Amino acid sequence: MIAAYYQFSPKTGKAGQNIASVLKAVEKNDFDLLVLPELCTTGYGLTQEESRQWSEPVPDGPTTKAFLDYSRSRQCTIVWGMAEREGCHVYNSAVLVHKGYYLGKYRKIHLFLNEKDIFTPGNLPFTVWEVEGVKIGLMICFDWAFPEAARTLGARGAQVIAHPSNLVLPLCQKAMPIRALENRIFTITANRCGRERGLSFTGKSLICAPDGSVLSRASKQAAFGYAVLDPREALNKSLTPRNSVFEDRRPSFYL
Ligand code: ACM
Repeated sequence: MIAAYYQFSPKTGKAGQNIASVLKAVEKNDFDLLVLPELCTTGYGLTQEESRQWSEPVPDGPTTKAFLDYSRSRQCTIVWGMAEREGCHVYNSAVLVHKGYYLGKYRKIHLFLNEKDIFTPGNLPFTVWEVEGVKIGLMICFDWAFPEAARTLGARGAQVIAHPSNLVLPLCQKAMPIRALENRIFTITANRCGRERGLSFTGKSLICAPDGSVLSRASKQAAFGYAVLDPREALNKSLTPRNSVFEDRRPSFYL
């Protein structure tokens, strides 16, 4: 499986332009799974008013339709982050589509800083979808700081975690190899880069393997990156012949 990310600097409030520039940038690249950054169609630093104005229903909005169409034409899987509107709520969501079919969405559970003024906290469980025999889980950006997020996805069978991000701190890039190692899974963190409304994003998107190694790492510039993965490696949860990172858990001693 070729797993890829596209790191770029979205234009605030220009969903159509952002989608067109992503699709143009990845056009000549091969991939089975493409992961894009958090809020990659609207930009990140939104006001409450803008988040209401620029959010869309999922899957019934134009952004989901555009990615559905592209995933059908390229026969691939795409995960991206966007502002989702449902009734009076706006969620910071990630969406999964495969070969023209909508598979599902995740709403960010751990909101970061001022996101707490803009978005409703996620109300959907950490979910794993099976895509052509490979189990894919979703989490978003700051979820990295809560090991329970990746742990829950790992416990639910995820072999690959797609992780749309808009990181302003340089810490997640240090943590993700550990999230991958402690759950023996692959992770694809698609960060954004550039500046927006006084915020500077840290780039350095990365793909990690179940042994904690980094298979691809971007710089701070716009970049397409990929790795060829064998998701079956994520089925082996052993650290030693007598230690499994899941079977050896002792939940009665944990919080
Ligand atoms: C973040 O969760 N966007 C830092």
